[in-house]
Amino acid sequence: MEKKKIVVAITGASGSVYADLLLKKLVQLNEQIEEVGIVMSDNAKDVWRFELDNDNYKNIPYKFYAKTDFTAPFASGSARFDTMIIVPCSMGTLGRIAAGTSDDLIARAADVVLKERRKLILVARDTPLNLIHLRNMVTITEAGGIICPAMPSYYSKPQTIQEVAATVVDRIIDLAGLKNQSFRWGQ
Ligand SMILES: Cc1cc2nc3c(=O)[nH]c(=O)nc-3n(C[C@H](O)[C@H](O)[C@H](O)COP(=O)(O)O)c2cc1C
Repeated sequence: MEKKKIVVAITGASGSVYADLLLKKLVQLNEQIEEVGIVMSDNAKDVWRFELDNDNYKNIPYKFYAKTDFTAPFASGSARFDTMIIVPCSMGTLGRIAAGTSDDLIARAADVVLKERRKLILVARDTPLNLIHLRNMVTITEAGGIICPAMPSYYSKPQTIQEVAATVVDRIIDLAGLKNQSFRWGQ
């Protein structure tokens, strides 16, 4: 299997736990990965600190890029990143991507992934959803993106917040095409 080049963007929706678990999982699956680039919005840093009471993303051994850094490799299709995961994805970021603004590195990288017909996974989070959110999700789906809402499942009987969140993260890992041991219904 060809090794993956993955962009992880973290935005200021609730659910920093999903980003935390995903980054740790990518480190575990590192033999399947060539490169991971990370970009966080300022709001994502605030929400992470508020929800998880730490700044532990700083310990992740992948390169972080400033949200304003359009010289990051994944700001260009020529760098050939396969997959971009936005986790959690705020409705603001979702709207900017749907509108094609490319006004920060997150919106630009998503625009690049879509134009190159590669894989864009948006772990969208808000509730309830208004018609603008839903229309933006349709627009991104029509452009080839995957809306993978932060909607945990319970049929594996998760017992802790981490186990509940892992039901979402395992689906993200599957969508990204990485091999992973996880709960499989019927097995
Ligand atoms: C604690 C907290 C939780 C939030 N949760 C959500 C959420 O679940 N979904 C959402 O779309 N925005 C949420 N927001 C609002 C976003 O952070 C805000 O709209 C911000 O502009 C998003 O910017 P970004 O996409 O650049 O990170 C939350 C904000 C805070 C402080």
